[in-house]
Amino acid sequence: MSANILAHTRADERQSHADATDVILTGDRPTGSLHLGHYAGSLRSRLALQGRCAQTLLIADLQALTDSSGRAAHVARQVPEVVLDYLAVGIDPSQTTIAVQSRLSALAELTVLYLNLVTVARLERNPTVKAEVELRGFERDIPAGFLCYPVSQAADITGFRATLVPVGDDQLPMIEQTNEIVRRVNRLASAAVLPECRALLSSTPRLPGVDGRKASKSLGNAIPLSATADEIRGLVRAMYTDPGHARASDPGRVEGNVVFAYLDAFDPDLTTVNELKERYRGGGLGDMALKRRLEGVLEALVAPIRARRAELARDRAYVMDVLRAGSERANTTTQAVLRDVRGAFALDT
Ligand code: TRP
Repeated sequence: MSANILAHTRADERQSHADATDVILTGDRPTGSLHLGHYAGSLRSRLALQGRCAQTLLIADLQALTDSSGRAAHVARQVPEVVLDYLAVGIDPSQTTIAVQSRLSALAELTVLYLNLVTVARLERNPTVKAEVELRGFERDIPAGFLCYPVSQAADITGFRATLVPVGDDQLPMIEQTNEIVRRVNRLASAAVLPECRALLSSTPRLPGVDGRKASKSLGNAIPLSATADEIRGLVRAMYTDPGHARASDPGRVEGNVVFAYLDAFDPDLTTVNELKERYRGGGLGDMALKRRLEGVLEALVAPIRARRAELARDRAYVMDVLRAGSERANTTTQAVLRDVRGAFALDT
């Protein structure tokens, strides 16, 4: 199964800048099923790293609550769905730990300690938090937990002594804030209690939604990892191309063309994609032919994921078992880190 899926992992993804001693941690907010943007942006690197490095995937349900406390039941229901997405793409729980943030009490305690090392002004300056505050229309009513979620994310990362974090570029400010906290803890302890971490950025630029706007579940413009063949066809047909390219013979624009963005991200044959770009630019390639190619590429990628997901979804007990075992293992790791950090704050002396 995973050999099939790994065929879509291109060479540039396999040679990430990780070495065997790296400890990898990433997280996802369980607010809905994962989509192809997640696949290109980080699931693919996680698959490439699996088995080469110690790796944990954290389902960040507490972080999801920082802006969705009114949707707590929805967030709870999404947790096993995210596990299904992980397993369906080929994450193997015997090689990668899958854990739930809210089951790791050490992370909450680390967050409380780290809050003393960060100013409100610094939190307000975090560009990702700023953009999200704007997007969600919080204005002056920002939940305190939301403003502080970068600190909780620093707890996630340091709780595993992670050194490498595969994320999208919107998460770079979180890595920077984490390292500031790491340096403060180490200064307090006069010892290297925690390692600094670095981001592992995907070589694929952020995938747009089918309409060319930012991909988002609420806009319905993302292609779910478990999309049916009909859904894929419908979404590909709806993709924004170049409004100036009315006839196949017209010269077309490749930049900003969503179909090419997806081909760049997923077509295993980049030589052909480059030839298609030439033909499109020069005039002589219609949108329909291009979209048919993409449909084939996406169906080949998604079909095995969809089949495996459907099979696993029938075994709820197994999914729950993966979560329980992973969270137990993660609990041991994070409690040990917490002991060291408590020491830096002169607790337990
Ligand atoms: N903030 C991340 C996102 O919105 C999710 C996340 C939570 C995370 N904890 C993390 C990412 C730790 C990397 C490391 O996608």
